[in-house]
Amino acid sequence: MNLFPALEAAYCRDSRPATEAQRLAELIAFGPIVFQVARIMLKWGILELLRNSPDGLTADETARRCSCTAYAAKVLLESSLTLGLVTLDREAGRFHLAKTGWFLLTDPLTRVNLAFNHDVNYEGMFRLEESLREGRPVGLEHFGPWRTIYEGLSQLPPEAQESWLAFDHFYSDQSFREAADVVFGRPVRRLLDVGGNTGRWALHCVAHHPEVEVTVMDLPQQLDMMAAQTEGLPGADRIHGLPADVLAESTRFPAAPRFDAIWMSQFLDCFSPEQIVSILSRAAEAMAPDTYLYILETFWDRQKYETAAFCLTQISLYFSALANGNSKMYHSEDMADYAGRAGLEVVEIHDNLGHGHSLMVCRRKL
Ligand SMILES: C[S@@+](CC[C@H](N)C(=O)[O-])C[C@H]1O[C@@H](n2cnc3c(N)ncnc32)[C@H](O)[C@@H]1O
Repeated sequence: MNLFPALEAAYCRDSRPATEAQRLAELIAFGPIVFQVARIMLKWGILELLRNSPDGLTADETARRCSCTAYAAKVLLESSLTLGLVTLDREAGRFHLAKTGWFLLTDPLTRVNLAFNHDVNYEGMFRLEESLREGRPVGLEHFGPWRTIYEGLSQLPPEAQESWLAFDHFYSDQSFREAADVVFGRPVRRLLDVGGNTGRWALHCVAHHPEVEVTVMDLPQQLDMMAAQTEGLPGADRIHGLPADVLAESTRFPAAPRFDAIWMSQFLDCFSPEQIVSILSRAAEAMAPDTYLYILETFWDRQKYETAAFCLTQISLYFSALANGNSKMYHSEDMADYAGRAGLEVVEIHDNLGHGHSLMVCRRKL
């Protein structure tokens, strides 16, 4: 199994000193507690208060400034101290923001992941074990009776929907500009966006190219959200909806008139390997020899930074417990294998777009 160099260095040797390994083991054992502590430190504004207090704050000052009890301020600050979010000036009894606290406060990726884990995953994750045994997202029952989270996206409670969309958009939005340079580097007049969600890539395309027509193929309830989000925006008249459940084997990809490009962004990770092969095979049937199919994914093995691979392999468990029970963040070699089984060949891979996306470019095997 190939890995990018930073990952090979981190994952192919057990080089952590024993004390650090033990500390990490305890961090895991107390995971749910430290997660909630960090979240509350953010939500109650304590981390921000500390950042804005060059002389630091005592526990009592913190309590007064954020309108909580002295008891609450003390347990939160002491937990945060041993966790590493804050440091202590021992003589003065004053707390200061530490580097990890600063990341929690200012790093947008961390904020998006934290909100996603709290609002979408936290309670459902309690049922991860059942989900893995049964191969279905048992944790999704926390939100509703759907087979997959996609069927229920439009009906999630507002904070869960907001965090889900922020998470989804954060990852894909950042790579659209660079991806568009690759896609529109070839002539494209008609583009099929499979799983186009709220239409953000479609909007990007119509802004990028003055004539391109984009068809978003997605579940019907999703297309309603897409129509609402794109209504009245420049180029929206060149964005069309095609309601379809791609999981149904009877769903065919539109063959005439031909699309020059088929786009699947953060889409195939919503399906199992067998489902991916089926979806790509049906896409291949509709492709002409000069049609390109683009797969934009965050492959965990192609990350420049180890922290990114960590995030992605954890996100896989969201698919297990909440999303659908059978998909994940894939290794790029697995995806290339599924494409090959579907009659496609990978002709290019562009790495390091946005926040760790890769763009796999495929054509029909001749
Ligand atoms: C993770 S989102 C990706 C959204 C967007 N392409 C992006 O890059 O941000 C997956 C999309 O696939 C759609 N989807 C999931 N299952 C589907 C199915 N069975 N048929 C059609 N679309 C589906 C969802 O509704 C959602 O819009």
